[in-house]
Amino acid sequence: MGRIQDRTVADLAGREETLRAALDPSRMPRHIAVIMDGNGRWAELRGLPRLEGHRVGREALRRALEGARECGVEVLTLYAFSTENWRRPRDEVEALMTLMVEAAKEEALDLQQNGVRFRASGLLDAMPPGVQAAIAQVVALTQRNTQITLNLALNYGGRSEITEAARRLARDVVEGRLTVADIDERAFERRLFAPDLPDPDLLIRTGGEHRLSNFLLWQAAYAELYFTDIHWPDFRKLDLFEAIRRFQTRTRRFGGVDLG
Ligand code: FPP
Repeated sequence: MGRIQDRTVADLAGREETLRAALDPSRMPRHIAVIMDGNGRWAELRGLPRLEGHRVGREALRRALEGARECGVEVLTLYAFSTENWRRPRDEVEALMTLMVEAAKEEALDLQQNGVRFRASGLLDAMPPGVQAAIAQVVALTQRNTQITLNLALNYGGRSEITEAARRLARDVVEGRLTVADIDERAFERRLFAPDLPDPDLLIRTGGEHRLSNFLLWQAAYAELYFTDIHWPDFRKLDLFEAIRRFQTRTRRFGGVDLG
């Protein structure tokens, strides 16, 4: 039994490597954003508590990060907790917060050793103090890393990010740092949560739904969208590489025409 399982694992690794090697390095997405959906359903299908789906989802997160790093992707943004997720049962919200603190503490060294720069974007001030502290520690520890940026969208909502940018613009105008005529797309972008990161080129959503759910509403304007029925805990490097392969077959025109 062990040997069959070993062979299956080796076979999967082989297929992953073949697919990765077939990708065109000159057409890699710089920034991949992921809506990690389907944890709850993954668990319910197995008669397990929903939290188990989030726990196993953490493994999928590690695989996706490793796969993205192997491809030379610069930024991986993951939707970990939305401004709407507070509406979930209290137990689940608390368990998710605990999981985040555990993950931040347990993964810190690994992130550091693998050259991962860790960031978080969202309304972080409204997160529990324990989560804020755990996040701040990993951010500080990994701030000089350059292999890949892992940007965790936490207490994140696209509309609240846009509203916050508008508030910052208004404040700058009222306090005389900006005039109304200075307001353009660049001025707006500079007031979003992570103005230094490039826009996502590829946005993946697992779990079978075909919607954005308030994720990166401004930044995803020209992102290629990739939807898969796979539940997040089952997401493997192979699935990431397949999404990138599909991305590389698409022609991006950014509103212009393809001049071939
Ligand atoms: C969506 O699945 C997933 C989430 C709301 C949380 C994502 C969290 C993880 C992947 C756990 C690890 C996170 C960190 C930061 C360590 P869902 O619960 O909406 O699934 P459903 O649609 O099947 O109910």
